[in-house]
Amino acid sequence: MKTGITYDDVLLVPQYSDIISRTEVNLATEFGKGVELSLPIISSPMDTVSEADMAGNLGELGGLSIIHRYNTVEEQSAMIASLGKKVLVGAAVGVLDDYMDRSRAAIEAGVKVICIDVAHGHHILVKRAIQSIRELVGDDIHIMAGNVATLEGFNDLADWGADSIRCNIGGGSICTTRIQTGHGVPGLETILQCAQSDRDAKIIADGGIKNSGDIVKAFAAGADAVMLGSLLAGTDCSPGTIFKTETGELRKTYRGMASADAQRDWRGRVSSCEGISSSVPYRGKLADVIKELERGIRSGLSYSGARSVREL
Ligand code: IMP
Repeated sequence: MKTGITYDDVLLVPQYSDIISRTEVNLATEFGKGVELSLPIISSPMDTVSEADMAGNLGELGGLSIIHRYNTVEEQSAMIASLGKKVLVGAAVGVLDDYMDRSRAAIEAGVKVICIDVAHGHHILVKRAIQSIRELVGDDIHIMAGNVATLEGFNDLADWGADSIRCNIGGGSICTTRIQTGHGVPGLETILQCAQSDRDAKIIADGGIKNSGDIVKAFAAGADAVMLGSLLAGTDCSPGTIFKTETGELRKTYRGMASADAQRDWRGRVSSCEGISSSVPYRGKLADVIKELERGIRSGLSYSGARSVREL
């Protein structure tokens, strides 16, 4: 039996710092295949998080959105096309049925990133999907894949051709995978393990990130970028409407894509249910939420005396 840690189990020890101003901290990350993020924050491919509004606005703030795949190929590519050539955007695809058509349409509509988006990424179907999409798109398009929970999984996906890999299984705020299946690894432990890899693929810390402090911990453990669901679902740029609770609180719906609710909506039936449908407080403008996170990250790096994510 092994013991693994996650975000709430650790604190970073403050270090000597010669950073005079937080503006000296540079958060830019070279993400591979020409994908440059001035802010290494990626929005989750979920139908209550990432559609055109999120993609356009997060892209302008320096991050990246992965437009979800719980729609028709035409709907997804129309969202991408509506952004013009204006911002960096990615598209999620699965590993069965329409995934090749979806990839083709997304590339034609202008994406630079294809994300092979499945719950258990260390899987032969992901290997086949990475290889066939790579054959289709050549070397210029960034392929993101996942999710994995182990170093072996990370290395295999990298060897199969993934440029970046979503790391963490079972740690998402709306996730019930660990309860339903008994599988998972504490989120930060997965990042620490994957950071041991000698492959070039980038590490995306995905799920379970609740605040800017967790983002700094993920970077310190070796992540190149973070993927956020619940932190962005409550903003003005996520899909869905704001509703008021009986106590007068403003909230927005946020649901796992493997929740019964979501499955019923996107495929008309429920198989294994590994997520819940919930809601999050309405947090206001995306730009304000991102600026607040960015301030916390910059401050966090300066507590460690680091001028960049890599230095941290
Ligand atoms: P959060 O930022 O903690 O809310 O986690 C978001 C992440 O949860 C996503 O990026 C996915 O990796 C993961 N996720 C999304 N839907 C589900 C689900 O239904 N079950 C388990 N994990 C999910």
